[in-house]
Amino acid sequence: MKIAVIGGAGYIGSHTVRELLDRGHEVKVFDNLSSGLEQNLFKDAGFVKGDILHPEEIEAFLQEFKPEGLVHLAAFKAAGESMTNPEKYSVNNITGSLNILNAATAAGVKYFVFSSSAATYGAPQYMPVDEKHPTEPENYYGYTKLAIEGFLKWYDKLRGIKFAALRYFNAAGYDVKGRITGLEKNPANLIPVVMEALTGRRKELLVFGNDYDTPDGTGVRDYIHVNDLAIGHAKAFEYLQQKNESLIVNLGVQRGTSVLDIVKAAEKASGKKVPYRIVERRPGDPASLVADPSKAFELLGWKAQYSDIDTIIKTTWKAYLSNGIV
Ligand code: UD1
Repeated sequence: MKIAVIGGAGYIGSHTVRELLDRGHEVKVFDNLSSGLEQNLFKDAGFVKGDILHPEEIEAFLQEFKPEGLVHLAAFKAAGESMTNPEKYSVNNITGSLNILNAATAAGVKYFVFSSSAATYGAPQYMPVDEKHPTEPENYYGYTKLAIEGFLKWYDKLRGIKFAALRYFNAAGYDVKGRITGLEKNPANLIPVVMEALTGRRKELLVFGNDYDTPDGTGVRDYIHVNDLAIGHAKAFEYLQQKNESLIVNLGVQRGTSVLDIVKAAEKASGKKVPYRIVERRPGDPASLVADPSKAFELLGWKAQYSDIDTIIKTTWKAYLSNGIV
């Protein structure tokens, strides 16, 4: 299939591009390289530098390429920042997505795979969280993802575009074959922060609370390896093609890992100590957030293969080593 990947130079985007290419798809990336990296582009995929906030650029790209499928991962994702600068998230995430959607329907795109988030659920009311869980986002970032799922439902009804909204839990790790090594700029997520503390790029890891109702008191999350996420995108296209029906689905592992479990795994992989300090809880953080991924298994035949914590941490450590900053 001809597939356009919007945001394909980013962290999850580049892994998705590699997976789609490996499965024989024809892929073209559209990215403004604001957080994506040239280093993450592949020679066997096309690339157009452009901005989703310039409708004429995304229109021209899709009219010229005429893809059957599209993956949209071009978004800001810092939940904390979305609460202090909601306008930035409205413009980029919401307006940008509508520009893509309008250009996609105009260009005859049939299948739209959207990078959604577990942040659409908000504070978990039960666990593991399945897709029937109420969607009450606790941050504006999560709301932008939910709003876009709403637009997709309407465009399905009114324009017949079929979509898969993939609600990612905590994306982590690097390509198991070492083909992608571009490090995210200014990371805020736990694992890159742990890596920066290990390598002396940052003084220490601040552990946001150790008094949660969890086995060791620190926050528990469902970390999913980015190669597994990438496979999820490929399987979503297969599903859309075969069933011609839209779907919303969790991509997670149903295994909880605490902040201190991550610290221990990082120390084991690197042979170094992670300097850390316990500080106050971060506002809006749930104690624990774990997925029920059974719908992905039933409908997509998708099951995580690489998401054990050792693989996640080892592949990340290797990406840092290969950047020569250790
Ligand atoms: C966050 C966002 C989520 C978004 C995801 C991807 C919130 C509430 N959620 O998920 O909406 O989809 O990122 O970008 O912001 N931690 C520390 N110290 C740190 C960083 C994190 O202790 O410096 C802890 C957190 O408190 C949490 C765990 O590590 O318990 C994971 O945090 P993080 O990687 O930021 O992901 P989430 O908060 O789960």
